[in-house]
Amino acid sequence: MKQFLKGLPKVELHAHLNGSLGVDSLRDLAERLYGSAPEKLLELCFIRCEKDLDACFETFKFVHELTATAEGLRYATELAVRDFAQDNVQYVELRTTPKANAHYSRRDYLEIVIEAIIEARKKYPDILVKLLPSINRAEPVDVAEETVSLAVELAQSYPHLILGIDLSGNPAKGRFSDFAPIISKAREMGLKLVIHCAEIKNPSEVQEMLEFGMSRCGHGSFLTQKEIELLKQRNIPIECCLTSNVKSGTVSSLEEHHLKRIMEANAPKVICTDDSGVFDTTLTQEFLLATETFGLTRRQCVDLTLEAVHHSFATDQERKKMAERVENYAASLQK
Ligand code: IMP
Ligand code: ZN
Repeated sequence: MKQFLKGLPKVELHAHLNGSLGVDSLRDLAERLYGSAPEKLLELCFIRCEKDLDACFETFKFVHELTATAEGLRYATELAVRDFAQDNVQYVELRTTPKANAHYSRRDYLEIVIEAIIEARKKYPDILVKLLPSINRAEPVDVAEETVSLAVELAQSYPHLILGIDLSGNPAKGRFSDFAPIISKAREMGLKLVIHCAEIKNPSEVQEMLEFGMSRCGHGSFLTQKEIELLKQRNIPIECCLTSNVKSGTVSSLEEHHLKRIMEANAPKVICTDDSGVFDTTLTQEFLLATETFGLTRRQCVDLTLEAVHHSFATDQERKKMAERVENYAASLQK
């Protein structure tokens, strides 16, 4: 099964750039920047099974140190694309929070990432990469305003690359209602919205988010069965990230993961990594866990991949090509 899943031309719809650097990539990055990769630093970039969401957000700070220069960010972007390509991911929508520091502005940040993606695709032509700038809900609202206006502007120059806006960050911080007017503006300007929703228990916020609407729902761990039905009616997929949820403690075990309830309800879903680097996983591994835990067959994995193709923000033509790759792979194994 593992070999089958590795070879499957997979589709990744929920991946944060700074969370998506595997151990080899972190080592390569530290060596490029500092001439060596201190093991202590590398250890700090990984989340153990701490079951503590706040601790997870602290971990990102160590990775962020490695991407705090233009060179670090550029190379990290290339490495993240490399890691997905090596896992046979044929399409990835990368999300990332534009940051500002002494080395770059938020505009520079996005431009560096965009250029790095364009360059990386020359090295890894088999993977299609899109970008979703993220709003960090733990940051002030005016930062979100800047992110949205940059995203809207850059989407005009790179319409096939920047496709939407993500709302993420520590769900215990910030209020959705403060960000709703800004992300509403993004939607009016034609950007899709992916929202981390029901990652922790917060029924009133979940209700606000569902009323507001979104193209895809991130995590959805605390959705009630009624809310899952509502998403089903609206054809909004839930981005399920098994290892991330278990390691960060928002789901108690793989067996308890809400993917089971979502599958039973036959509601739309996609399997994603969230942060394959810091959670030390791959999309292949996430599929494998799903097969081992819930008994998915190969055909169900193919169908889940086709579901991800369908719910991606790629063009019709791109989606058609992706679906063909998946079907051809499945057919080649039956011969
Ligand atoms: P970056 O945006 O490329 O720096 O990716 C890391 C960032 O993504 C983190 O600092 C968080 O703001 C966000 N992030 C990553 N994983 C999660 C998650 O599971 N929930 C909410 N936000 C997340
Ligand atoms: Zn996420």
